[in-house]
Amino acid sequence: MTPVIQQNVSLRAFNTLALPSTAEYFCSVSEHSQLLQALEFARTSALVVTIIGGGSNIVLAGDIPGLVIQIDLRGVSHRYVTAAGNATGDLANAVDVTFAAGENWHQQVLFCLDQGWYGLENLSLIPGTMGAAPIQNIGAYGVELADRLISLQALDRQSGELVCFDRQSCEFGYRDSLFKHAGYDRYIIVDVTLRLSTKPEPNISYPALSAAVEAFCRREGLTSEAITPRLVSNLVSEIRRQKLPDPALLPNAGSFFKNPLLKQPQLNALLAQFEDMPNYPQPDGGAKIPAAWLIEQCGLKGAERGEVGVHDRQALVLINRGQASGAELLALAGEVRQSVEQRFAISLEIEPRIYGVN
Ligand code: EPU
Repeated sequence: MTPVIQQNVSLRAFNTLALPSTAEYFCSVSEHSQLLQALEFARTSALVVTIIGGGSNIVLAGDIPGLVIQIDLRGVSHRYVTAAGNATGDLANAVDVTFAAGENWHQQVLFCLDQGWYGLENLSLIPGTMGAAPIQNIGAYGVELADRLISLQALDRQSGELVCFDRQSCEFGYRDSLFKHAGYDRYIIVDVTLRLSTKPEPNISYPALSAAVEAFCRREGLTSEAITPRLVSNLVSEIRRQKLPDPALLPNAGSFFKNPLLKQPQLNALLAQFEDMPNYPQPDGGAKIPAAWLIEQCGLKGAERGEVGVHDRQALVLINRGQASGAELLALAGEVRQSVEQRFAISLEIEPRIYGVN
């Protein structure tokens, strides 16, 4: 089927910040052939192409010229990994699951739990699509997508070919990948393969999660045997619901800033000045600092600026209180960055992708 390409389409419903923005041309593609046809339309009409998924990690700062393609490719397949043919035999409990890029992340986490495929439970309730997950290497509660990813396929817009990337070639880092740098605007991720385990191996190392698990077990009179991946998924979802606003009720894009990684000299200098600054040590001797703490110290937690604000339960989240424009939101982001820069000499990096800046 040929994709339906519409003109002047409102993108408000296609971004979880609910920012007003109009796409000059828009289409949603649910088949690979439709994606190719949409790209061909853009090429022959000399239109710039913007790719979106679930719209949960983008800031639409204005209208979007050219063609916006929403990736709605669907389908899930799997293959059990057997010990046979594998010299060490240590993969017998594994299953490789391939998800088309348009599949919803959280629905697939739940689907995998239902199948008895474990390893994604800590990443429960993250908004967005499978195809977007590798771009920012989604992570939460002690697990990152990079820990599970085996490979992904992407359409190379330069050559028109499908390219397979293994984990290493994705160049993953904290909230980072090749697709934010050299691969930006070049590759369109079409599917993602994750290696999951058929053996439950709950990871509750993240302090807030282990505290929640312990409290739950104490309350219910349970022992550590009762800690299943399903329980971890439920508790992670509960923590997220408490702290992070539901975009359907209070439009947001999750964490708006990355947690800064400081090198040792800067870390030591700041700790001498701010003794209680929380910090997570890194292998290089430096540390990751919760940006939410920095923002809170600047007195900006819960700040309201007209139609935009800093969430009152998680200072890392900027919210649209209803009728905000992208420009207002970016002005608040600028104020936050400036305050943190002035007080701590730390430059916060905006995490979501910004589109529509003239
Ligand atoms: N904190 C504050 N004030 C706040 C919130 C947090 O001071 O308002 C401090 C506390 O010291 C707290 C620490 O920050 O102990 C960590 O807070 P939290 O566990 O909420 O994690 P985070 O570092 O703020 C990161 C991710 C989240 C992810 C959580 C849990 C980034 C940019 N964000 O937030 O990811 O859910 O850890 O693992 O790394 C997202 O990317 O959209 C996202 C929500």
